[in-house]
Amino acid sequence: MKLIFASGNKHKLQELQSKLPSHIQLVSMRDEGFSGEIEEPGKTLEENARIKAKFIFERFGENCLADDSGIEIEALNGEPGVYSARYAGENCSFLDNNLKVLKNLKGVHNRRARFRTVIHLFLEGKEYFFEGSIDGDITASIKGADGFGYDPIFRPRGKKETFAQMTLDEKNQISHRALAVEDLIQFLSTFE
Ligand code: IMP
Repeated sequence: MKLIFASGNKHKLQELQSKLPSHIQLVSMRDEGFSGEIEEPGKTLEENARIKAKFIFERFGENCLADDSGIEIEALNGEPGVYSARYAGENCSFLDNNLKVLKNLKGVHNRRARFRTVIHLFLEGKEYFFEGSIDGDITASIKGADGFGYDPIFRPRGKKETFAQMTLDEKNQISHRALAVEDLIQFLSTFE
């Protein structure tokens, strides 16, 4: 079964393909000949994942999926959420985003946050939705140099290290993305 991934991110494609059952062949939208970017005007992760998957479905008429992730901080009313990539402005760096979060949480006692991934799937004319999340806390300062995004300021609940202090393997076993993908895989493994 072929599935088109509505993303141009090669790392995500490889990670997902390595976890999918062998009867599923994941191809990127780039391989299908779409080299542009899909706009993400949604106000929630769910909306954006569906917008991206629907765009590819309408273009190619084939089974496809899209994902969207973000970090939701309780004391900031769920921000940056769907705006995680550009929290500190268009073309900002990961460091800019981290520093903005730390500034906005200065003196704030409630550090609760969670990462969330949603996956939207178009399969044989039906739509399905999968989700994974991990709870944690925003640290008082930047800790660790690995990973990306908000990894240096996010400590999963019950752990001593931030995501950026863990190996990729350790992170990938517990991450929001891994849990959403597990949810998807469980569903797909029932499809021949
Ligand atoms: P995307 O939807 O996977 O592209 O994620 C959007 C943004 O959310 C990224 O640019 C990061 O800022 C943030 N993000 C998503 N997943 C992670 C993660 O695992 N660690 C750190 N930041 C993440």
